[in-house]
Amino acid sequence: MNEISHLRSESRFWTGWDWMIAAVAIFRSVEIPALVTLRFLDFHPRAEAWVNLSTSALLLADIFLRFQRPIQASLGTLHGVAARRHYLRTFFAFDLIGSLPWGIICNRLLLSGSAWLSVAFLCLFRLARVAAFSRDFIRSPSRFFILRRLGIFLLWIGLVVHLVACGWVAVGGVSPALTSGRTYIRALYWSVTTLSTTGFGDITPKSEPQMVYTMFAMVMGAGLYATVIANIASLITRADTARAAFDEKMERLQTFMKYKKMPVTLQRRIFDYHQFLWESGLGHDHETLLKELSPALRRSVGLFLNHHILEQVPLLKGASTAVLHRLISGLRTVVYTPGDVIIHHGETGTNMYLINRGEVEVLDPQQGCVATLREGEYFGELALLDPDRPRQADVVAKSFCVLSMIDAETFSLVLRRFPEFAAHVRQVAARRLAESDHRAGRI
Ligand code: CMP
Repeated sequence: MNEISHLRSESRFWTGWDWMIAAVAIFRSVEIPALVTLRFLDFHPRAEAWVNLSTSALLLADIFLRFQRPIQASLGTLHGVAARRHYLRTFFAFDLIGSLPWGIICNRLLLSGSAWLSVAFLCLFRLARVAAFSRDFIRSPSRFFILRRLGIFLLWIGLVVHLVACGWVAVGGVSPALTSGRTYIRALYWSVTTLSTTGFGDITPKSEPQMVYTMFAMVMGAGLYATVIANIASLITRADTARAAFDEKMERLQTFMKYKKMPVTLQRRIFDYHQFLWESGLGHDHETLLKELSPALRRSVGLFLNHHILEQVPLLKGASTAVLHRLISGLRTVVYTPGDVIIHHGETGTNMYLINRGEVEVLDPQQGCVATLREGEYFGELALLDPDRPRQADVVAKSFCVLSMIDAETFSLVLRRFPEFAAHVRQVAARRLAESDHRAGRI
């Protein structure tokens, strides 16, 4: 295994591990308060104790591993002593407190008095890192950022509602005569009505601790309600901004086309083109977004966006990063709609094309279609191999086509740097030329 794939699989392992630890921490934050306040350990002592102990062991193992692995800090990746020091200063105390088997500690050692039940909530310390983890998850670039934000948001709301319900049981808000299931449903009902600021008033606090707790829940509910509304409003607005910008562009275009009295068929083609761009994710204003980046970032983004195009050409494999950068800077993505003439027979050629998506037909003016080229194939190279030779055929888009246009200078660089590729191109060119000469009756 080379170094890069080793690093990749290592980072994949840590990503998987972090997900698992976050899931365990969330599970415990739901389970332990419920376990202790609803006294589940009295009913299933062995199973629950095992779950409690094993999840605790996993979280403690995570603390141990944290001391061995690099840490991603705001200023970059920290290794060795620096990483350990950073961990000790930040999450270590929270992780340690949150990882102890509080379910067992509360039920076995601290049996006396309901005030001790609040100790079970110490497992929530582990949520500090889950909060940081979910923040990173939302911020990491993704097409599904709205879904991600909504998912995380609902998860935290659910957690708060559950914990406030457990707290209500802990302060004796529900009659102890009921079964655990019924107790929980009543507590959950109280939690939802109080936190959503509905407050029907059918379950009211009887003792002073319950009154204090209710006040706390009411204040929290007001804050939570405001956060829910603000978040959902922001999510809806953000979900629509891209689409709204697209619709606005289409409206402006329509006004322009009507004003210029363009033929309906041409208008239809323009609309179809924009629709295709939008659906294939090419409609966003890439150029402007890229221009705002630093030159180094622009290069890296270019490499990332185009590497799959070059991977389609097996003979270019093994190109050094410098050559790839040079190649990519000479590529331009262009889109054609069905029926568009990409190359006109007899013209002088300055570009060649690599097909990323779609199909084109090579048309001879006399004989019609002589070839159909698909994804991964290329055309327009003949005119570049000999600048005095005009285009040998028409090339027409058969479907929507996404092509990488390569300029003459970049093409000659590729030929110089990749002799094997050059040999292949020349071989194919010789065949295409022979066919073309044959058609023209030159042979
Ligand atoms: P060029 O002559 O630059 O422009 C037209 C292109 O059509 C040509 O390069 C070739 O890439 C392509 N072409 C011409 N003849 C054939 C053929 N017989 N088979 C496949 N492609 C062809």
